[in-house]
Amino acid sequence: MKLKLDGHSTALILEQTDDDDIHWSWFGPASLAEMATPAGFQRLPASPDQPVGPSLMPGHGRGFHGIAQIEAFCATTRRRVQLGQPELRQNGDALHIAARDDHLGLEVGTTFKFQGDALVITTTLNHTGQSPIDLIRAASALPPAPDWANEVVTHAGAWGREGYEARRSWTTGRVEQLGRGGRPGFDGGPTLSLTEAGAGENRGRWLTAHLAWSGPFRMAVEKATDGSAQILAERRFAPGEIRLEPGEELDLPAVMLTVSESGLNTIRRALNTAIRSMGRSLVRPVHFNTWEARYFDVTEAGCIALAQDAAGLGAERFVLDDGWFKGRRNDQTSLGDWTVDPVQFPNGLGPLITAVQQAGMEFGLWLEPEMVSPDSDVYRAHPDWVLGWPQEPLPTGRNQLVLDLALPAVADYLFESISALLDANEISYLKWDCNRDLYPAMRDGIERPGAQTKALYRLLDRIRSNYPVEIESCASGGGRIDAGIARHTDRFWASDATDAIDRLRIQRSTGLIMPHERLGAHVGPSPNPMTGRQIPMSFRVLTAFFGHFGIEADPGHFSPDEKAVLQRGIEFYKSHRNWMHEGQLVMASEPGDDPDVQLLVSDDGARAFARVMRIDTPKRPLPSRVRLAGLTADARYNLVEYALAGDPVEWPIGEYSGAGLMAEGLALDPGRALSGRLIYLERTA
Ligand code: GLA
Repeated sequence: MKLKLDGHSTALILEQTDDDDIHWSWFGPASLAEMATPAGFQRLPASPDQPVGPSLMPGHGRGFHGIAQIEAFCATTRRRVQLGQPELRQNGDALHIAARDDHLGLEVGTTFKFQGDALVITTTLNHTGQSPIDLIRAASALPPAPDWANEVVTHAGAWGREGYEARRSWTTGRVEQLGRGGRPGFDGGPTLSLTEAGAGENRGRWLTAHLAWSGPFRMAVEKATDGSAQILAERRFAPGEIRLEPGEELDLPAVMLTVSESGLNTIRRALNTAIRSMGRSLVRPVHFNTWEARYFDVTEAGCIALAQDAAGLGAERFVLDDGWFKGRRNDQTSLGDWTVDPVQFPNGLGPLITAVQQAGMEFGLWLEPEMVSPDSDVYRAHPDWVLGWPQEPLPTGRNQLVLDLALPAVADYLFESISALLDANEISYLKWDCNRDLYPAMRDGIERPGAQTKALYRLLDRIRSNYPVEIESCASGGGRIDAGIARHTDRFWASDATDAIDRLRIQRSTGLIMPHERLGAHVGPSPNPMTGRQIPMSFRVLTAFFGHFGIEADPGHFSPDEKAVLQRGIEFYKSHRNWMHEGQLVMASEPGDDPDVQLLVSDDGARAFARVMRIDTPKRPLPSRVRLAGLTADARYNLVEYALAGDPVEWPIGEYSGAGLMAEGLALDPGRALSGRLIYLERTA
């Protein structure tokens, strides 16, 4: 039996053969589905008499030594889980496979469903037996890796320096990306791609898997000696973390799988579109965030002055970052005591919020609810609320400890503290931070990082369903950006790096998963506090232009010329954001290329912005041709340059075909280091 599922232009074919194995016959362009791999395993020399291979839901014990669907055992009988033959069926627009261990009563069911061109795979374990089952690991998805794949691409990075592409050749064995820190981390998180050598943004084959999960994970590819290969995506369990009791069910995190014959841009579009459909569609106001303007030095008078300056530049939302709550003057105290500091804000937040609103802005507030400072009232009252080793010193990180969110008393305390702030003040936005990993994610000697992740999702939902607030997810910048938390939040702080050169790289890599309008991109100070680089305002504005625009610097330090550039950039942004925020980000250059060339193309293809950013002095004095991407080949476009300074504001460039702009390009290189150009394209035919 062969069953086929169609996405927008991708198809999946699963086939169940007479020997009852389920084969993944095709996952690729629907137009090429006739190339599906025939089902069945070949009998190889010196191998099992009943041929085995990686059918779906594989197990060990019959001669298959690849990755099994599940590794688990019954704690009472010590018997290992062994799934029987799986069954395949179709139910409307979904395919299901299910297998069962009849002795232990464990059922495993996987559902495949397209969301556009992203195949979403969900797996559930259901314990119908009598004795508890301990899980060692369980795959959310275990599809075969295609034969053409000979490179693995992930990302590498650390705090403030996220987003470096990491490519390695892969011909045999296993390549694994592990997240042990309890948050996905700064190194790309649960995303892994396979390519063929030479594949890039606009060429070559790619297959990308992303796990919608904000806790520990394992993403791997493994090639067996017979040449077959598997892709593994799963939540990582700590030893002893999961014991399924009779009657219990466990949902494993969803996996999003996408494939492209024509470069990474196709993958980006499919993943962005699928993640967009999980979230709320919002008009995104221009932010002003106090952090890099004031750090911990926030006071009522200082913030009112900042708010007035920010509004004058065009900001529409004022976010009061760290430093506003009781006793918080540095990063050593007070997390957990979510009441307004009586010294810095003697009249509460009311006067500041009124001033913010009078200046025409909304008000947002920073919180770090999952954390507690040892030097805080709440910790002194409830030292038993934190995660840690029993009877051992508690390891701090940024001087803080982690609350056990899975404890109902903790979740209630946080909900009530946040509710009190939201009830007493007109706060429409929360910046929700998480500034350390979970080590150990332990209570009573049992590690439970997954319970922490699920409790976090519940708390976010509880707040969003009781209050009309938007929530930004931040984890020291890009430490927790994934499709799991995207369902429960509205925006991400992409990185603590506000250096515009670093940001070009970071927003490109994070934008592979997360739609650009959900990525906070702020104009920071110059010289940049982290890198010391002095970067012109126009370059900083253009970098922020392709994300959710904001300002993260003291406007009092901007020169009149800088202010004028910023104001003009914000005006452009406001008049185009509606289509930009529903459009697609397309890379016309490869990571690390100079100039960096990106386009934002409207959903209907009728208009686009092309942004060309020159980082270093070009090697050649004559301008090089810049080729665009993501346009419609047989359409014609009128091109106009938008100038951030001087007159006129708009410079006509000319009218050209999409094919010409993509194949030949134009002399659009800005030519000077640290300069950029913004070109508006409108379709004329
Ligand atoms: C983290 C965030 C920053 C800022 C600080 C405040 O580093 O990423 O944006 O909010 O915390 O302490």
